[in-house]
Amino acid sequence: MMLLVLFLLLCAFSPASAWIPVQDWESGNVTTSVGSSGQCVCHVFLPDTTFPADRVEHMQQVSSDLILEVEIQIDKMVKYEGKMLIYLAQLKDLESRVNILGSSPDDYILLDFELLRVELREFEALVSQLKDSFNSSSPLFDSLYTEIHNMTLIVNQLETYDKSNLEVIRHEFAKLQKKLEECQKDQEIINPDIGNCNHTGILSLSNPLVVQLNYHLNPGYLYGGWGRDSKPIRGNENMYFYGGYNSPGAVYDFYSYSNYDNLILRKASKHIDLPNDWLGVGNNYIVRSNAIYYQHNSPFSMTKYNLTSSAYDYRVISSASTSFSYAYSSDQNLDFAADESGLWVMYASNQNMGKIVIAKIDEKSFGIEDEWRTDVYKQTAGNAFMVCGVMYATRSVDISTEEIFYAYDTKTKQEKYLSITFKKFQEKYSNLDYNPYDQKLYMYNDGYYVSYNVKFNKE
Ligand SMILES: *[C@@H]1O[C@H](CO)[C@@H](O)[C@H](O)[C@H]1NC(C)=O
Ligand SMILES: *[C@@H]1O[C@H](CO)[C@@H](O)[C@H](O)[C@H]1NC(C)=O
Ligand SMILES: *[C@@H]1O[C@H](CO)[C@@H](O)[C@H](O)[C@H]1NC(C)=O
Ligand SMILES: *[C@@H]1O[C@H](CO)[C@@H](O)[C@H](O)[C@H]1NC(C)=O
Ligand SMILES: *[C@@H]1O[C@H](CO)[C@@H](O)[C@H](O)[C@H]1NC(C)=O
Repeated sequence: MMLLVLFLLLCAFSPASAWIPVQDWESGNVTTSVGSSGQCVCHVFLPDTTFPADRVEHMQQVSSDLILEVEIQIDKMVKYEGKMLIYLAQLKDLESRVNILGSSPDDYILLDFELLRVELREFEALVSQLKDSFNSSSPLFDSLYTEIHNMTLIVNQLETYDKSNLEVIRHEFAKLQKKLEECQKDQEIINPDIGNCNHTGILSLSNPLVVQLNYHLNPGYLYGGWGRDSKPIRGNENMYFYGGYNSPGAVYDFYSYSNYDNLILRKASKHIDLPNDWLGVGNNYIVRSNAIYYQHNSPFSMTKYNLTSSAYDYRVISSASTSFSYAYSSDQNLDFAADESGLWVMYASNQNMGKIVIAKIDEKSFGIEDEWRTDVYKQTAGNAFMVCGVMYATRSVDISTEEIFYAYDTKTKQEKYLSITFKKFQEKYSNLDYNPYDQKLYMYNDGYYVSYNVKFNKE
């Protein structure tokens, strides 16, 4: 039991004082007396060990924390409400798009189904995220789930219908693509920046333009590449190429197209069946000056197949290693790239401890003329490409987001870490390359042709 001596003040005001604890004590263990110098002295015997001042303080703290917490929650609610409104508006938009698809089959766009499905998946994830943050079992969420589920069913139904009308759809899609291409051509003609490097690097990438599923119309052909000749020869200015396979270790043929329309219409101008001695792997090939540069399987080397002369040639890079591939697929040991300054190949070496080495290829002799060692472990990168002598490496943020996280400038030997995020259509990709001829990025995204416009920093 503890004795607490209170001051005069307390005596003077009690027991009439409204201070409740004093009254409680009065009825029990409080005695008063007059001290030696005439002052009033209170003796309070507390039944407990101490006056719970600390607990009161704690309570006050807890209550103010609670108030703060409530404010935070209210703030969150307001934000979520705003977000929710946006999502609902987007959902409405999706809904009307699904309705349009259903009512007028002539307006089909082949890929809209896949895109819709992706968007629906995203919605589902968002709703689930919202639900978690609210910790709510509100019927609103259940009805959202139902709506999303319903729409997924409709999209699937429509797609079955779609298959029987595939030719019509393809035709419509080609017409649309043609319009798009004309638009792009207009842009290119008036774009004085093509071939120009008077900028300080990449600022951002556009949203992905999902062109279409691969030439084989086979979603199982997850590994491949597509793009455009980056330095076309005369008479073949608009040459596009494609290769697609169901395994990363098999690169056995390529297709070339005289222009974009024919790529879309799947009218190949050439089918190149690689002879057994010249089989490739890894899908990090490109076409430049009507020649395909790809990784040769055996011996491990870089190969050039000249489409003009139909001649094969190869060069072994003794320091390049087959032990390191990019994150999304195996066998990607030699990654070819082209930019405003020429032809490049990137690979990891044991000497550089699995980190990417950039090598400049002399196009005449097909030999390596210079090398730069970067600090990027090849296996942590999704892919890499060159723009204006700068290597950019990418990595995954999440299943729908990718990030350019690293740049190495071969002119200054300077590296820097950066974060330029961009959307993916599908999660993985096996081929990502910049094309200096149209300043676009080409990606083979789990079977789909995807491209991006590149925005440069012109500060
Ligand atoms: C004073 O406190 C003691 C110990 O808690 C208790 O036993 C006693 O009954 C109290 N006296 C009165 C008058 O309440
Ligand atoms: C969510 O609510 C349930 C039941 O009301 C509760 O048991 C759970 O701890 C809560 N979770 C979170 C993260 O607040
Ligand atoms: C979903 O579909 C079911 C069955 O077709 C229907 O009863 C329901 O009203 C639909 N819900 C929404 C939110 O559209
Ligand atoms: C870059 O070069 C192009 C072509 O010479 C020119 O039109 C443009 O204005 C230049 N941009 C800057 C920022 O210097
Ligand atoms: C391909 O072969 C033609 C004809 O021999 C030649 O003129 C051209 O330079 C070659 N192209 C490349 C990229 O080696």
